[in-house]
Amino acid sequence: MHLELIGIKKTFVDEKQGKETSAIAHIDLQIEGGQFISIVGPSGCGKSTLLRIISGLEKSFEGEVLLEGQKILKPEHEVGLVFQQYALFPWRTMCKNIEVGLEIMGMSKIERRTIAEEYIRLFGMNGFEDLYPSQLSGGMQQRVAIARTLIMNPKVVLMDEPFGSLDSQTRNDMQEFLMDLWQKRNVTIIFVTHNVDESVFLSDRIVVLSKRPARVLRIFEFDSPRPRDRTSKVANDIRREIIGILRQERIEPSSIGN
Ligand SMILES: Nc1ncnc2c1ncn2[C@@H]1O[C@H](COP(=O)(O)OP(=O)(O)OP(=O)(O)O)[C@@H](O)[C@H]1O
Ligand SMILES: [Mg+2]
Repeated sequence: MHLELIGIKKTFVDEKQGKETSAIAHIDLQIEGGQFISIVGPSGCGKSTLLRIISGLEKSFEGEVLLEGQKILKPEHEVGLVFQQYALFPWRTMCKNIEVGLEIMGMSKIERRTIAEEYIRLFGMNGFEDLYPSQLSGGMQQRVAIARTLIMNPKVVLMDEPFGSLDSQTRNDMQEFLMDLWQKRNVTIIFVTHNVDESVFLSDRIVVLSKRPARVLRIFEFDSPRPRDRTSKVANDIRREIIGILRQERIEPSSIGN
């Protein structure tokens, strides 16, 4: 698997108001298969826009996204998405939420149930399969959202602040759960987060973006073994350096609204 972002640039145009918002100035990025990459950057700098571009949801932008040399032009099964808001169907049980992609593909009921049950076991959610999303904890809802994406066997999973709404203990548990899952499967993860600690705990590479319009300020390569000690010297050093860069990128009051 090889994912290339070449000369990505995005400007939002509001024709009614004659207003343009430059969200991404210029991004080039090469991503190798199986990597765990985090993207951190100031609020509003263009991170979600970048993920939408990679996912094929965003139609108008400059540059190219190539997955194994092929342009991504629309949402594909190879590229999965997990958002902060779990976006589960409230009227479907856990099991039926997990099966939804396979159902849309036209897989038979028995086949998709068998596969969904494997995921429920793998995700440690046995016994909850007939409950509805409102009956599940936040951490479990997010696990359902991840299972629903992974069941489609994507090569790349894009995650946009997936643990942003969880309390800190559940968030730590979910980070460990995700790390374990990623180590078991040959999947590439591109993970957007505001939380520098989370990016240091999880990633092989951390891409630090500038304030809007986004460009790459620094890329940190981090190859210490997992599971990582969040308080090791190397983790602390990288964390301190990233926080320093982000502090310098704080939006000056005079530039708001430009
Ligand atoms: N559909 C849209 N129309 C106009 N402007 C948009 C649209 N979507 C995003 N923007 C603008 O583009 C910029 C980047 O937004 P984006 O959501 O990508 O930032 P972000 O880095 O994900 O922010 P956050 O950290 O708060 O999630 C912002 O200024 C936002 O207001
Ligand atoms: Mg965002």
